[in-house]
Formats: sequence, structure tokens, C-alpha cells
Amino acid sequence: LSSTEIDISKIEAGQIVTVKWRGNPVFVRHRTPKEIKDAEATPMSDLKDPQTDAQRVQKPEWLIVIGICTHLGCVPLGHDGPFDGWKCPCHGSVYDVSGRIRSGPAPLNLAVPTYAFLTDTKVKIG
Ligand code: FES
Repeated sequence: LSSTEIDISKIEAGQIVTVKWRGNPVFVRHRTPKEIKDAEATPMSDLKDPQTDAQRVQKPEWLIVIGICTHLGCVPLGHDGPFDGWKCPCHGSVYDVSGRIRSGPAPLNLAVPTYAFLTDTKVKIG
């Protein structure tokens, strides 16, 4: 299957759920108001791979990214690192609550897959 549908109605604010898509992990994060504020307030000058939060989400409450570290492909751990985003267990790359690379050897932000909200509670990835 090239696409997958997920029900996001049970994912609580602050929670990250990992789903599989094309054999890869995809992180679906229901962001809290504070996380959204932090992501939106980040100055572009702090970013190695500059992207606004708005360029990376369709709805501020929902961050959906491919869970593959852009360094050498490990799976980063959520709610970890100084930004409470993700931290990669392999060589320590740190991602923020927008999945943007903030420190460590990874060159790029966590990739955003193609996705669409079918309803308020259903998302199609791919
Ligand atoms: Fe993630 Fe190297 S694979 S930091």
C-alpha cells in the first residue's frame, strides 16, 4: 500500500504516536499550545535547515514527520533533548517540536511526508 489512513481522535495533546508508512516510522505528534508557541517563536537564525513551523504543518496542533534521522537513519526518541522534541540515540542529533534539526551531525530537518486531513480525525499519509 502506498498510503495509509490513521485515526488521530485518540491521540492526546502532548502525545506522539508512531505509525508505519512504506516500512518507515512516521511520527504523529499532537502538540500542546506551549509546543506550538515554541515552534512558531523560533528565530530562523537559530536553524541549520531554516523552515518556519508554518511551512511544516497543515494544522498547528499536528506535526507529522518521517521518523528517520537525517544523519544516518536511526529512529530519534521523542520528548527528549533540550527542546523536548526528539533526540537521536545514535550520534545525538537534536530536533525541536517542529522536527527541525537544532544540533548534532544531522544536516536536515525530519522530512514531512505527503499527507491530507480526510476529516478532523482522519489523516491519510501518502
Ligand atoms: Fe541520528 Fe547519526 S543517525 S545522529
